[in-house]
This record gives sequence, structure tokens and C-alpha cells, in this order.
Amino acid sequence: MKYQGIIFDLDGVICSTDHYHYLAWKALADRLGIYFDETINNRLRGVSRMASLEIVLERSTVVYTEEEKAAFAEEKNNLYRELLKNMSPADLAPEVKETLDALRAEGLKLGIGSSSKNTKFILSQIGLGDFFDKISDGTNITRSKPDPEVFLKGAEYLELAPAACLVVEDAKAGIEAATAAGMDSAAIGDAVKCGLATYNLTRFADLLNCVD
Ligand code: BG6
Ligand code: MG
Repeated sequence: MKYQGIIFDLDGVICSTDHYHYLAWKALADRLGIYFDETINNRLRGVSRMASLEIVLERSTVVYTEEEKAAFAEEKNNLYRELLKNMSPADLAPEVKETLDALRAEGLKLGIGSSSKNTKFILSQIGLGDFFDKISDGTNITRSKPDPEVFLKGAEYLELAPAACLVVEDAKAGIEAATAAGMDSAAIGDAVKCGLATYNLTRFADLLNCVD
């Protein structure tokens, strides 16, 4: 086996939360009178909540205080979490679950490396609350992707050397973070475009070809 463990990004890799992020940011932007669309939303992929807010506020003519920004981030998150309540095990694609099971059967340790502070809530909504061996997420890091911290912590939690881990990512910032951590990476979805990953996946099950 080329790897001993795989660290998966969550949003956009294991499940799709993009639209809920979009709806919640859009509601905040509309309330503040700031233009926001799906293209801007794409730039928030892999980016921490506060860094995402800064991108949303780029088009604002008003300069807000740190207190106001913290309140805006909380407002967005409350709305986002309400929307996440709509998620269920039906939002976990059978192909994803079957591939995860096959990777585990090959003896690989499986972890999460996500910027999201809602990671555990989302995993439990889609029926994967107890599935992963270890979780590194927005609650245990101080620096967001493209900084390697979330993946280095993930490898540490899995008790693996960084070079023994493969990262799966849908964001360019996540591929850069994996490279900075000394890990190979597999890009899926939007991240394929950046051309920086070790592997480019057309579908999730292609991952099985990367580990043999
Ligand atoms: C990432 C998403 O997984 O988590 C980003 O791709 C998001 O769009 C980030 O901003 C932080 O998420 P949360 O759930 O902590 O607000
Ligand atoms: Mg992602």
C-alpha cells in the first residue's frame, strides 16, 4: 500500500454543503445590502468562517468593527445550522459510503481534515457520526487552509507520519495545504482545475486506484 491513512476534507468531498453555505451567506449579504452570488460563494471553499466573511464584506462600502463582524459570523452560522438540520443519511452518496468501506477494508486509517467548526454536527446528520478514526477540524486549529495545520494535526491524531497520508480535497487551498504538509493529494470537483494535486479524480470511487 502506498499510504497508511487518508484524510478527507468534509464539505464538497464527503457531502455537499455548498448550497447551504450559499443560502446562509446570501441571507446575511442581502440584509446588509451587499452583492453576493454563486461565483463569490465558490471562493469560500475551504476558507475559514471569518476569512469567508471578509470575502463577503469585500463589496461593502461600510467598514465594520471586529465586534460587528463576530456578530455577522454568528448570524450566518445560526442560519447555516438551521439549514443543516435538513441533512440526513440520504445526503451521503452510496458511492462515497461504499468507497469508504472498501478503503477501510484495505486496512487504511480514515480521518477528517476540515476547516469547519460544524464537522461533528454534519457527520452525525449524514450518519457518519462514529465512522472516522480521528477528526481534525476548525475547532482544533488556529490557521486555516492553505496552512497545513489541519492536516498535520490529522496525521498526528491518526498516529501517522505526514508522508504516509493521502489528502482528498475539493478546494485549491486544501490541495496547497496538503502539499505544504508533505502529503500527496487527490483533487475532486472544483480542485481538479488548479492542476496542483497528485491525482485528479473524476468520481469518488477513483480513490481506490490511488492507494494500491
Ligand atoms: C469549509 C468550507 O469546509 O468550512 C468553507 O468549505 C467554510 O466554505 C469553512 O467557510 C468553515 O465552516 P464553518 O462550518 O465552521 O462555518
Ligand atoms: Mg471542501
